[in-house]
Amino acid sequence: MGSLTVTMTDVNGEIRSFSDVDEGLNLMEVAKARGVEGIFGDCGGGCSCATCHVYVAAEWMAKVGEPDDIEFGMLDMVSDVQRENSRLSCQIKMSADLDGISVTVAPASSY
Ligand code: FES
Repeated sequence: MGSLTVTMTDVNGEIRSFSDVDEGLNLMEVAKARGVEGIFGDCGGGCSCATCHVYVAAEWMAKVGEPDDIEFGMLDMVSDVQRENSRLSCQIKMSADLDGISVTVAPASSY
């Protein structure tokens, strides 16, 4: 077990916090392993389904960084709920830099 902390607000508004997350896992994998409601990860992390859409907490945006072109294109397909802090959780890889990150599952991930 790792030692990084991740907080996720699921699609029902329930706040889940985990303090034993392994470095190197992406947030979609973390959510799936912990049963966070609303994250499906249908494509297995290939950046081609957008069922792992999350909103990154404002204070974490700078550290997470901008989506690359492929991710940006996928996010565009969920434009009804897209926000400036929209990211695909499978593209956010846990590292010491992101220890303590907080994200909220986007409603579109629950269709
Ligand atoms: S799991 Fe499919 S885009 Fe993230």
